[in-house]
Amino acid sequence: MQTIDPLIDASAARYSRGAIILHWLIALLIIGNVLGAWLSEDMPKPDRAAIMALHKAFGITILVLTLARIAWRLLHKPPPMVETLKAWEAALARVTQWLFYILMLALPLTGWAFVSGASQGKPVSIFGLFNMPALPVSFDKGTVGTFKDMHSILGNLIVALFVLHALGALKHQFLDRDATLRRMVPFLK
Ligand code: HEM
Repeated sequence: MQTIDPLIDASAARYSRGAIILHWLIALLIIGNVLGAWLSEDMPKPDRAAIMALHKAFGITILVLTLARIAWRLLHKPPPMVETLKAWEAALARVTQWLFYILMLALPLTGWAFVSGASQGKPVSIFGLFNMPALPVSFDKGTVGTFKDMHSILGNLIVALFVLHALGALKHQFLDRDATLRRMVPFLK
């Protein structure tokens, strides 16, 4: 568990406004991107293509927002963890956070790499506003297939992690009744 500065009331401490905005914005975009990819699987080709164009643009947006979030995190100290947290809970929370950061970077990068190889170097349109260049990856079928598989596996992993994270938040709010969720939800008393 984190050592608590006696001048900070851990039960009242919150993440900074920037961290809260980035947390919820990225969470919503990831949920939208996962649902978009899954729900469009059985759609007619033109509809699937339209949704996947948004998926790619939002995916690269998530990558940029994640970089901003990591920079923000390095510049703003997070509030101390709730004092009543058990050592295993604090450790699990830390591991989950690190895995989220890794996945939030690796997931869009593997998607981008897959699309770059599969399209043989075509740029990705960002909402029709501008293009992001293709990543310099091999067009070889095996490599493209590997990026596709990685993207799919990491997609499933982030969903599993999301479920664990959400269940943890609900446990703290309704079973432990501690101040954990309040740190990230501004309007909770
Ligand atoms: C954090 C951002 C992203 C998330 C959460 C995400 C999630 C997913 C998920 C869950 C799938 C379905 C995988 C499956 O079940 O097989 C998928 C498929 C796909 N994603 Fe992403 N993705 C992200 C970013 C990107 C980016 C940046 C690109 C490209 C620029 C991309 C391109 C694709 C493509 C083309 C597919 C379809 C793969 C196929 O043909 O089966 N994704 N994505």
